[in-house]
Amino acid sequence: MIREMTRVANQHGAINLAQGFPDSDPPAALVQAGKDAMDAGRHQYAITWGSPELREALAGKITRFTGLPVDPQRELVVTCGSTEAMMVAMMTVCDPGDRVGMFSPFYENYAADAILAGATPVHVPLHPPQYRFDPAELRRAFATGGGLKAFVLCNPSNPCGRVFTREELMQIAALAEEFDVFVLTDEVYEHIVFPPHEHITFATLPGMAARTLSCSSLSKTFAITGWRLGYVHAPAAIIAQARKVHDFLTVGAAAPLQHAVVTALNFPASYYQELANEYAAQRDILLSYLDRAGLTYSKPEGAYFVMVDISTFGYASDVEFSHWMTREIGVAPVPGSSFFAHPENRYIRLNFAKRPATLHAAGERLLKLAKR
Ligand SMILES: Cc1ncc(COP(=O)(O)O)c(C=O)c1O
Repeated sequence: MIREMTRVANQHGAINLAQGFPDSDPPAALVQAGKDAMDAGRHQYAITWGSPELREALAGKITRFTGLPVDPQRELVVTCGSTEAMMVAMMTVCDPGDRVGMFSPFYENYAADAILAGATPVHVPLHPPQYRFDPAELRRAFATGGGLKAFVLCNPSNPCGRVFTREELMQIAALAEEFDVFVLTDEVYEHIVFPPHEHITFATLPGMAARTLSCSSLSKTFAITGWRLGYVHAPAAIIAQARKVHDFLTVGAAAPLQHAVVTALNFPASYYQELANEYAAQRDILLSYLDRAGLTYSKPEGAYFVMVDISTFGYASDVEFSHWMTREIGVAPVPGSSFFAHPENRYIRLNFAKRPATLHAAGERLLKLAKR
């Protein structure tokens, strides 16, 4: 659906706020490091589970931000983005017939990953507009139907922008412990969080490091979605299995780019602060136009998406609304129903991973929605 909206946006010359990727350039030092890696002849396979220097740099960065000790020799596997990391995590812990819990709305890959691993997705609603879960519904998912093998946690969350509180994460952790469930986290937006919200790495919760496969990516943090670099961090015994899955899936991530990104992993703390500040400013630009247009939305706490309520426009189908909006307003959204497991047609998703000028141009167009 996201790619379909991109096609429709192109057809009508609309501003594409559907597909979410940064439209700013990566840091110049990182691009230069990429060129240097090519010139240095880094063209052949790296070690399948990641070049030693990249694993060292990742381990150092994870420890700096989370306080978790990480053994780069045994506890990391470098993957082709978090996309592969999540698939590797799923195939590492799940067998055909297992049940895998996940919230809804959700990033579409999770259900597909579960199905590809032969498992069955079990959805737990995050109730709009706050996108909070009902602890009783969550417990039911863990407890019924023979229980879960794994639970997928996307935090900060695409599409709803939630950054789960410590209390919420502790509820998930308690259930994982009680029902002996693995937790597969997707934390690609860990550095795009808006104060006062704070990202808590799930594996840092008491007892959780032993059962968590933490997946993340360099795609969003360094604006290099096309470089395809991510990783799984988990206990050594789990990573030993994950490395086998990864080896058979992709062999490895691009060797010169693995080498280059070490430069970025050594950026100072100020880099991450500026990244969060920039996204906060972009969020505020888009939200200011939504406010002026009188649209209702759920304020994003992290990531770079906003769910907007379109129920007052009287469309029976959010897909139809999204096509109309792309054509007539000139801004392409994603129909919210793409992210929900149950029928839902009240929302669209817009992304603000765009330069301020693009967001202002889109915002001016969105003001036309106010008159309707
Ligand atoms: C929640 C989430 N996970 C993973 C990805 C893909 O990440 P990667 O580029 O690391 O594969 C995205 C991209 O939009 C995402 O939103």
